[in-house]
Amino acid sequence: MKKISLTGIKPTGDLHIGNYFGAIKPALELAKEYDARYFIADYHALNTMKDAKDLNSTIRQVAAGWLASGLDPEKVIFYRQSSIPEVFELTTMLMAFTSKGLMNRAHAYKAAVQDNNEKGDDTDAGINMGLFTYPVLMAADIIIFDSDIVPVGKDQVQHIEMAQDIAQSVNANYGQQVLKIPQAAVQEDSAVIPGLDGRKMSKSYNNVIPLFAPEKTLRKTIMRITTNSQTVEEPKNPDESQIYQIYKLFADNDEQAALAVRYRAGGMGWGEAKEELFRVVNRCLSPIRERYDAIMADIPALDKILEQGAQRARPIASATVKRFRKAAGIDY
Ligand code: TRP
Repeated sequence: MKKISLTGIKPTGDLHIGNYFGAIKPALELAKEYDARYFIADYHALNTMKDAKDLNSTIRQVAAGWLASGLDPEKVIFYRQSSIPEVFELTTMLMAFTSKGLMNRAHAYKAAVQDNNEKGDDTDAGINMGLFTYPVLMAADIIIFDSDIVPVGKDQVQHIEMAQDIAQSVNANYGQQVLKIPQAAVQEDSAVIPGLDGRKMSKSYNNVIPLFAPEKTLRKTIMRITTNSQTVEEPKNPDESQIYQIYKLFADNDEQAALAVRYRAGGMGWGEAKEELFRVVNRCLSPIRERYDAIMADIPALDKILEQGAQRARPIASATVKRFRKAAGIDY
């Protein structure tokens, strides 16, 4: 039997090339080797996104983005978290095995508390129970599908450790392996993509290259990459240029070598380097953009794909809940 890879995708904002190389591509690589279960964590998003229209369209954009990037829903079980009621049943059961102290130590919660304290606000201001118990829902997401590995960014590792802790308390209590203990598969640092300003590409820095922007916008965005004040004539160091760092993600080996030579020789201005970058980025993103636009033009078909994913996921989820209920003495 193949091992299981599972990850949750929080539907926030427009996907960018940092998401693509840092999360989407590695997860799709894993799907070749593992039985993959990838889902849209829409109830996690509800903690912060209270605008119904916005949440509704973001969920679909993100789902379409993964499909356009190559997720094959025949192979990967692809669904919305909210379509699997068993996840929330398991969450309630796991709550009974989760100490409040563990939740107090969660980075995201602690950061929110610290932020309030620094501002002199009430300690609990703006913190809902969804945020506080976020790691329990995430543990349920993972555990319910008997996941072996969970591909995530570094920021999520603590959550996986908490899922391990919670599952272990359950197993220890009943003296049997009721729940499988998941492992994090952390994306290496090489996956950190520089943004327009050279810092890590991130929506919160407003320095991203969007995945699905129209060609014109894509070009404009690339032209906004910050550069130093070196003149056209001056030789340039490719390793110190984020244009070149991004170029490496999209260009083949010959192209990379050729551009490095032009950097070092001098005589090439930043404008020209950006044009060359735009050429290779657009070459890669055009087909993805076309698929994305086609998927977004047929929302009922997209919803059907997600619903079919949920149909396949639910029997697996329900088997885990059953097993747990039996171990807990709650089976009739
Ligand atoms: N917390 C993850 C994030 O913010 C999203 C997520 C929810 C998730 N449930 C998950 C990731 C389960 C992996 C496994 O990105």
